[in-house]
Amino acid sequence: MSVHGKARKVTTHTLQEMKRAGEKITMLTAYDFSLAKLVDNAGVDVILVGDSASNVMAGQVTTVPMTLDHMIYHAQCVKRAVDRALIVVDMPFGTYQGNSAIALESAIRIMKEAEGHAVKLEGGAEIVESIQRILTAGIPVMGHIGLLPQSQKGKFRFKGKKLDEREKILNDAKLLELAGVFSIVVECVETSLAKLITNKLSIPTIGIGASHYCDGQVLVLDDLIGLNPINVRFVKK
Ligand code: KIV
Repeated sequence: MSVHGKARKVTTHTLQEMKRAGEKITMLTAYDFSLAKLVDNAGVDVILVGDSASNVMAGQVTTVPMTLDHMIYHAQCVKRAVDRALIVVDMPFGTYQGNSAIALESAIRIMKEAEGHAVKLEGGAEIVESIQRILTAGIPVMGHIGLLPQSQKGKFRFKGKKLDEREKILNDAKLLELAGVFSIVVECVETSLAKLITNKLSIPTIGIGASHYCDGQVLVLDDLIGLNPINVRFVKK
């Protein structure tokens, strides 16, 4: 039987076994009880309580206004619905950058108040200290590199076409693996770079607009099922 088929509850270890077995990992967002139940019943491996709730639920232009209280509320709703999937909760903007003590405090609130299984942080070298501090408390961390919605000032664009940008993204991926994250979201990264990162790392990469070479794929549920009126280039509704 496949690793996916055997897992009655998906853990960070399941995802790493799936990579080793060459099985693709599925990940979708959910922010509320009903849709989280639907996604979990469908057998999706990971449910991301994403700060994209800011865009698709609250109608904000960016994810920046999202607070820790908002994320905890959404994570609590999702947690009540889910039996099998691994629940990853986004740490919102301003709760981990530049201060690892605040990062740990924020991650602990997510674990205590919402009982998520893991947290996700955006960035590379500049947030490694925060990641390491969170890991000291035994909280599993998922990384997020490439396009980083929390720090996009201008237009969203694909990453990794310029040499210096490629080098930084690859280096960030290696640093995050070394720091101890269990998996990394790779967002809007050019195909050959996504393939290179996936081959170089022993932890799974989960792509969004980053080619089929990643070990898994993540999408915002609202984009996938056509609830979001805005067309996203790499999403087939
Ligand atoms: O918040 C979110 O939905 C995300 C995905 C884009 C990966 O971080």
